[in-house]
Amino acid sequence: MKTIDDLDLKGKRVFMRVDFNVPLDKERRVGDDLRIRAVLPSLRKVLDSGGRLILASHLGRPKGKVASQFSLRPVAERLSELLAKPVPLLADCVGPEVERQVSLLNDGEALLLENLRFHPEEEKNDPEFSRRLAKLADIYINEAFAVSHRAHASVEGITRFVPVCAAGYQLQKEIQYFKKVMDNPQRPLAIIVGGAKVSTKLGLLENLISKIDCLIIGGAMANTFFKAQGKEVGKSLVEDDYIETAARLLESANKGGVKVFLPVDAVVSADAENRGDARQVSVDNIPEDSMIMDIGAQSVQVFESVLQSCKTIIWNGPMGVFETPPFNKGTFSLAKFMGSLDALTVIGGGDSAAAIRQAGAENKVSYVSTGGGAFLELLEGKDLPGVSALERC
Ligand code: 3PG
Repeated sequence: MKTIDDLDLKGKRVFMRVDFNVPLDKERRVGDDLRIRAVLPSLRKVLDSGGRLILASHLGRPKGKVASQFSLRPVAERLSELLAKPVPLLADCVGPEVERQVSLLNDGEALLLENLRFHPEEEKNDPEFSRRLAKLADIYINEAFAVSHRAHASVEGITRFVPVCAAGYQLQKEIQYFKKVMDNPQRPLAIIVGGAKVSTKLGLLENLISKIDCLIIGGAMANTFFKAQGKEVGKSLVEDDYIETAARLLESANKGGVKVFLPVDAVVSADAENRGDARQVSVDNIPEDSMIMDIGAQSVQVFESVLQSCKTIIWNGPMGVFETPPFNKGTFSLAKFMGSLDALTVIGGGDSAAAIRQAGAENKVSYVSTGGGAFLELLEGKDLPGVSALERC
């Protein structure tokens, strides 16, 4: 796979696919700019080398229609601040006017195309649309790890029409860290999985169960495992259709010598609105009228003592309803603890990455992936179409 360092960028029109699908706040400003900051080294490399930078991204899911709430304008503003130079936003991403604006770019200048997903052809990986995008470029760079699991026109199709294709620094880094944790990791290797549903983590668990030494399960998905063990969980979320699957996973972990750790206590309340009645109980005594909102303090201690002896740790998914205090304690305690460990610690998934940042541990863990679905698909053992396309070039 060619990388950005292998290219002569001077005077070239460099089409860089980035993933600026970032959360916006109530004032429609960028709420979390991790994905923008993460690609600044690649952007600066192109600009400092005298390349003409054409940035392309999606934002949200506008379903092939122009919709102002999905405009990349807030991103263009934040990007201009971070680069300390103007990055104009064009009104579209293809067409004669866009081609004209691109032809006016000088060496070392950048512009941002409007949301690629305003065109339905983007998600259909339409060859004609890929060709129209490719018309803007001498060089294509994929610096959009977080959307590389999508075979979309700007991610996959375009690589068939641009003569030179390469990977950006961030994309390389994501793949390197993934390889570090999965290919011949230092052991013990632990994975912490959380989040609401077992069903969304099934692929990951099935792929990893034979490769790991310890499995820590938290979040509402643990409830389905509790049910598989015959425990009652009150009004908590349970995926009834997956109770048998959970039992089967526990059994295959047991057969393979994988140590599985589930919470031993939980913070419960009537629901997320009733924070006042939050209390800790043993997982063997979940009241009938309560919901599990977080792991309890004892569970944090158990998980920490397991992690203390691990050399490689992957974390995907929060331990509770971490957006709503006081149900954030379990997730935040674990996030802080991860930052204190002398181990290779890799965190991926939107919620876990947000929790790590909010807990102030972002710069203390080994790596925080910018990917959500893409990170998950790697853990599921799948190839990412965006990466395979570069390897083929
Ligand atoms: C993400 O946020 O995971 C990526 O930007 C992909 O977005 P999508 O799930 O809408 O394709």
